Amino acid sequence: MSVVKSPLSEADLKTVGNALQGALVDLVDLALVAKQVHWNVVGPRFRSVHLQLDEVVDTARQHSDTVAERASALGVSPDGRSATVASSSAIGKVPEGWIKDEEAVRILVASLGAVITRMRERIEATGDPDPVSEDILITLTGELEKHAWMFQAESV
Ligand SMILES: [Fe+2]
Repeated sequence: MSVVKSPLSEADLKTVGNALQGALVDLVDLALVAKQVHWNVVGPRFRSVHLQLDEVVDTARQHSDTVAERASALGVSPDGRSATVASSSAIGKVPEGWIKDEEAVRILVASLGAVITRMRERIEATGDPDPVSEDILITLTGELEKHAWMFQAESV
């Protein structure tokens, strides 16, 4: 059942709905991962990495809301439940306990890389059926790639 009438055809709506749902779980998980590392990072670079991680959290939280509401606006019910996020996120499991600053940077490079790869696939998938959703995905991927650049610059 949908209470919202979609401007898209059923086939296009399925493609775009899948892309937005996938983007939602990846962004929710990215915010959780970045907070986990933010709380557990230790080492000489603690402060800069700790603060940088909250910038990732801000990006992920802001855009998870945008993609979820875009799904709703198209008539697709967004699913941000923890079990759904755990079973379909692109991001690997973060190790338990304290995390050395170098490892924290590695985790973020890997996590952002995994999310960006899938976001770029979603940009491809949505371009034709719904350029409005594509535009949202392009904007947020640009921000994710900026974060990815900064963490990579720290890992040399
Ligand atoms: Fe904090």
